[in-house]
Amino acid sequence: MSAVLITGGAGFIGTNFIYFLRRQHPDWLLVNLDLLTYAGNADNLTGLKDDPGHIFVRGDVADRELVAELFARHRIERVVHFAAETHVDRSIIDPGVFVRTNVQGTFTLLEAARQAWMELPPARPRFLHVSTDEVYGSLGPEDPPAAEDAPYAPNSPYAASKAGADFLVRSYIRTYGFPALITNCSNNYGPYQFPEKLIPFALSQALQGGPIPIYGRGGNVRDWLFVEDHCRALLMVLEAGQAGETYNIAGGEERPNLELVRLLLKLLQEKRPDLGDLAKLITFVPDRPGHDWRYALNTGKIEAALGWRPLVTLEEGLRRTIGWYLEHQDWLERLRSTEYRAFLRQQYGAELKGRQQPGPGRIGAGS
Ligand code: NAD
Ligand code: DAU
Repeated sequence: MSAVLITGGAGFIGTNFIYFLRRQHPDWLLVNLDLLTYAGNADNLTGLKDDPGHIFVRGDVADRELVAELFARHRIERVVHFAAETHVDRSIIDPGVFVRTNVQGTFTLLEAARQAWMELPPARPRFLHVSTDEVYGSLGPEDPPAAEDAPYAPNSPYAASKAGADFLVRSYIRTYGFPALITNCSNNYGPYQFPEKLIPFALSQALQGGPIPIYGRGGNVRDWLFVEDHCRALLMVLEAGQAGETYNIAGGEERPNLELVRLLLKLLQEKRPDLGDLAKLITFVPDRPGHDWRYALNTGKIEAALGWRPLVTLEEGLRRTIGWYLEHQDWLERLRSTEYRAFLRQQYGAELKGRQQPGPGRIGAGS
């Protein structure tokens, strides 16, 4: 049985990837290592509770002993590394944990894999490191999308920590001939996304009739990728990508934030006319400090080399996402925990729920 170590498999993309992988490879052993931070949710994995081929381990990717033991015990042949601190706003408030998990954690995992695979080389070892388009930095409106050889220019503590991790992976490839691959992807959305990121947060607020904060004037551009398209790309890279290579993955759906939120609310309103006029919930708030203007990726390499392209349009993906959140309002409700509310209080100065105007005092006020 082929054993894959998946880190961060109780988070948003990790959960989607595990279900996707399970459908494609019912016979693979999936060892899921996740610390269950605020962003990890064991509830996500209840669909696998009777699956003997899914082993969940609650633990830290930066715990060298634990990681080494997992490699030895399960004869891990492949790694898909999702575990990370992922929210840019949190990295502005508390950058230290981003360095620890994203840089130190990736280093620990790389070292454990290198040692284990030197001692007992599997037939086809692969280490897939999941990274972000944010490492290429902010683009202007007329800039061409970043290709894989674009220079790194990370701006937020989150982006810098992911860039640091990417550089470690690159150094292992170059120095040790380590069989790693890197993917850099654009903004994902879809089922199981924690309601701090723009799309699930806007949905969660709309369902409660609370304000939907738009940073600055809402002109910043992101390229939206439906998570299922991402999972398909990741499996292609894992199975058929060239070791040592980097692949960009994006949805090809660039939108300014305000336009995206308006579309989301229009589609939600179609399903739930009883929610009333949702556009009036849009509330402009001071900008995120250092807010990158635009990300865009050139995906020609993965299209030419592996035949991947996104299959789900933004409108279709948003409809599917809205449908999932409407069916899983209990999931959303459970996540509105004390810790999550504390983060929102820190971010917006007061509880957002039910208020129509976020108060002053958001981090680094001033746009
Ligand atoms: P997420 O925040 O939803 O989940 C992260 C998971 O990692 C959680 O389950 C959490 O418990 C776990 N984790 C955190 N610290 C850990 C540690 N020290 N040890 C073990 N587990 C730990 O993240 P996501 O959105 O699913 O992102 C997954 C990966 O994809 C990340 O590496 C992220 O940088 C990258 N990425 C995400 C996006 C996006 O739009 N979501 C885009 C580009 C790249
Ligand atoms: O680009 C890939 C990255 O996308 C990933 O690497 C990160 O892990 C992921 O968090 C995401 O980063 P962003 O900062 O782009 O995502 P976020 O959902 O936080 O914000 C999307 C855009 O919306 C961004 O321009 C900020 C803006 N925004 C966000 C929130 C939460 C708002 O205007 N209002 C909000 O309430």
